[in-house]
Amino acid sequence: MQWATLAAGAALLAPAAAQQMLRFPCSQLVVERTDPLVNPGMKYTPHLHQIVGGDAFNVTMDPNTDLAKQSKCTSCSYTQDKSNYWTAVMFFKAKNGTYTRVPQIGNGGPQGKLHNSGGLDLYYIPSGKVTAFKKGFRMLAGNAGNTDPSKVKMSNICHRCWTSTSDTPFVGGAPCTGTDTVDIPSDPKCKMIRQTIIFPTCWDGVNLDSPDHQSHVAYGQGSGASGGGACPSTHPVKLPQIMYELMWDVSKFADKSLWPSDNSKPFVYSMNIGGPAAHGDYVFGWEGDSLQKAMDNGCTLNQACSKAGLTVQQPATYDACVKKQQAPEEVNGWLKELPVGEKAIKA
Ligand SMILES: *[C@@H]1O[C@H](CO)[C@@H](O)[C@H](O)[C@H]1NC(C)=O
Ligand SMILES: *[C@@H]1O[C@H](CO)[C@@H](O)[C@H](O)[C@H]1NC(C)=O
Repeated sequence: MQWATLAAGAALLAPAAAQQMLRFPCSQLVVERTDPLVNPGMKYTPHLHQIVGGDAFNVTMDPNTDLAKQSKCTSCSYTQDKSNYWTAVMFFKAKNGTYTRVPQIGNGGPQGKLHNSGGLDLYYIPSGKVTAFKKGFRMLAGNAGNTDPSKVKMSNICHRCWTSTSDTPFVGGAPCTGTDTVDIPSDPKCKMIRQTIIFPTCWDGVNLDSPDHQSHVAYGQGSGASGGGACPSTHPVKLPQIMYELMWDVSKFADKSLWPSDNSKPFVYSMNIGGPAAHGDYVFGWEGDSLQKAMDNGCTLNQACSKAGLTVQQPATYDACVKKQQAPEEVNGWLKELPVGEKAIKA
């Protein structure tokens, strides 16, 4: 409902009239095989990630560290957000068996195109009064080893085919509804593929993390990008809803004659599994109580918000926040094999 209003109203109304939520871009900090949440301390983790956010990102991230104090910059547009966000990377598999990364662009939509340099766009969607994450909080959505689409709720993690390279007209409908799919679409008509990862909105109120990085949080009633409904008694604390939005620009691969001749799927994530293994990792790192204030004061979109002390950086500034790979290997160009196991080898 709210999303329909947002989409339909955007052409007529100023953004301030739409549902209040933070919606902002983050450029790529680094693409490498590290994962301080699932594989702390490890370099060359089982699969490749793209990471955005504060530059205190590291192979090990102690929950007692204040990321906001450690980071010198953030690749996200909000200066105060030194959190880290990461996901798998999408590869195109060519007929000759080599792989290349699918480029990413900022999403458009009703508030106009966001600029991210090979990164993703983020949402923090409040539903009523929410409690912002605490320092040291982290969580994981999705399962990187899952190959079974029926084990994923499409209303939480989904893909949408965009048949145009532009988002005008706006491809409507709330995320993870309608004809969206758990699997990555493989249809040469798709020029862009939008990936959405919606995180749980209910917290046990005690644990900043859990052994599986999931059981300290739970999805609320209802589904989709509504901010989340009522929380179960086991996880009574309502959180802001985090949503990752990734626009994979598949337009240059939209020619079926380039696709694998053995009928295998042309697009896979870095685990060499498709949509059912899509996942997102989150490590909280906003400065002080800025996120709580942003949620309480209806700060919105990608706008500065003095009530929460939020300031917005120019694209050139957040694009410049990058980190060297800590697990160095080639991740660009055409690769003989996916970067799994040993170091990747350039084709
Ligand atoms: C990353 O962690 C290593 C040790 O694990 C440490 O030596 C290094 O200073 C850390 N880097 C940053 C930017 O915190
Ligand atoms: C494999 O195919 C891609 C896409 O057609 C092409 O760009 C690349 O040069 C090819 N690589 C080799 C080693 O043949």
